[in-house]
Amino acid sequence: MSEQAEIGVIGGSGFYSFLDNVTEITVETPYGSPSDSLFLGETGGRRVAFLPRHGRAHHLPPNRINYRANMWALRSVGVRQIIAPCAVGGLQPQYGPGTLVVPDQLVDRTKSRQQSFFDGEPLADGSIPQVIHVAFADPYCDAGRQAALRAARGKGWEAVDGGTLCVIEGPRFSTRAESRWHAAQGWAVVGMTGHPEAILARELELCYSSLALVTDLDAGAEAGDGVSHEEVLRVFGENIGRLREVLFDAVRELPAVDARKCECGSALGGLQPGITLP
Ligand code: ADE
Repeated sequence: MSEQAEIGVIGGSGFYSFLDNVTEITVETPYGSPSDSLFLGETGGRRVAFLPRHGRAHHLPPNRINYRANMWALRSVGVRQIIAPCAVGGLQPQYGPGTLVVPDQLVDRTKSRQQSFFDGEPLADGSIPQVIHVAFADPYCDAGRQAALRAARGKGWEAVDGGTLCVIEGPRFSTRAESRWHAAQGWAVVGMTGHPEAILARELELCYSSLALVTDLDAGAEAGDGVSHEEVLRVFGENIGRLREVLFDAVRELPAVDARKCECGSALGGLQPGITLP
């Protein structure tokens, strides 16, 4: 039981030290190693598996994260719902530093990431995944989104309900021209990690929602020098306390796995993937 969890959190290392009865476990997957150990613990009676997305020493840039191993590892310990906090840049002037966005759409502008379990590549055990085209029109679990919004409101933080998260390859920030282009599309925020987490969660029939904390106005949304790494770290640090509180409340607000009304848990529509999901 202590090696099982129902809810996954993928985020920075400032989060898991506040779980109760934490145990650390190492998980290997057919796709290699996840970013780090899983930290399993409890909050408000819910079992949570925490995974530091960039590794606990923050040694993995967004483009080198093994997203498939991360999502597989979480599912293998029983996780069925994931909340994924991340730092983002605001693309619109009204989304300045300190804004919390719960996105409802995503645009993939990554270039080099493995974004499917169903790509025909045989696994080490000889099983061959079927090619399955998973519906992704609405990339986020709405029940997870509503839990996050209620939790934020409960803490007096009026989160933005919806908006498009544009995910770039990184690790560099956008040029001003790229950023102006993203902003002109009406997209709300830009980050580097929200994809392919969302689609891989969907392929594993997991609920997935995001808590996007704006740490800066991206280059196209301001007249200054553009975003810097220091600024992102500083603003994230200034907000981590209240983000953690919202995250923990959102975890408690999630429905019990068996009481879910969303369709995330049947995203494959009964199609046989050809590989055994953990
Ligand atoms: N993460 C935080 N701020 C960002 C920005 N401006 N662009 C991409 N990722 C970010």
